[in-house]
Amino acid sequence: MKRRVTKAIFPVAGLGTRFLPATKSVPKEIMTLVDRPLIQYAIDEARAAGIKEFIFVTARGKSALEDYFDSAPQLEAELRKKGKTDLLKLLKATNMDSGAIAYIRQQKAMGLGHAVWCARRLIGNEPFAVILPDDVIDAETPCLKQMVEAYQETGGNMVAAMEVPADKTSAYGVLDVDRDMGRLMSLKGMVEKPAPDSAPSNLAVIGRYILTPSVMQNINRRKQGAGGEIQLTDAIAQEIAHNGGVYGYRFEGQRYDCGSKAGFLQATVAFGLARADLRDEFGAFLQDLIPHAKAAQ
Ligand code: G1P
Repeated sequence: MKRRVTKAIFPVAGLGTRFLPATKSVPKEIMTLVDRPLIQYAIDEARAAGIKEFIFVTARGKSALEDYFDSAPQLEAELRKKGKTDLLKLLKATNMDSGAIAYIRQQKAMGLGHAVWCARRLIGNEPFAVILPDDVIDAETPCLKQMVEAYQETGGNMVAAMEVPADKTSAYGVLDVDRDMGRLMSLKGMVEKPAPDSAPSNLAVIGRYILTPSVMQNINRRKQGAGGEIQLTDAIAQEIAHNGGVYGYRFEGQRYDCGSKAGFLQATVAFGLARADLRDEFGAFLQDLIPHAKAAQ
């Protein structure tokens, strides 16, 4: 029987230099899409997929993240006094049970593989998910839930995948597909950030993974990969080479690259328009704005 996936790692140690000066004092994961921090979207997706233990790999300067998940007794008392039950409910939904959340520090920025490796003791001998909060996925069924459901059938390891323009492969882990079964693909390789002319496909890994303890063991913290970093992709590629059982999963949904400014803005507009309380006013504003934006080009 396949084991249930109840633990997820959230690598959130990055410096967020692409969003300087904002990230000088605000962790990137606390930056808000409409009114919720990026990390909240990741947590909600994990919860919907049945995750019970949340492991954050953080770094110096990220304590705002820990505060965010803590209860806020003063604020709650104030809201209660004023009878603001809606806001109180909203706030309570962000609290995490004690013991459900753990923080580990990655002391040096040595790459995604290294960040995941930092959580090895908390993962032990269990399958686990990895969620990169920069990749925000808007979907009817949350992306990780789609994957967990598929994993019930396949077992093994699974990465979220999406077609990207052929000239963008060098920004992603890229899949080498063995058998394409539609939503699911079995893999014969995986390469981190290949140049377009050496990429095995234009199917990119998006930041959702279900991995076995064996992949964790493969992470070689002395072997630098693409960009001089310890890459998670390399540990997965090793798993493919030695044991197989690694799948790509074409998820249903729209992915926004909130690690880039353009992607963050796109997500802001899309999530803003999707909100019943904002749609009319914001939509009218955009409609007025677009002719001006076109004229200015
Ligand atoms: C990371 C992974 C890469 C993956 C990407 C998805 O890269 O290393 O394999 O395709 O996330 O967003 P990063 O964006 O951290 O450079």
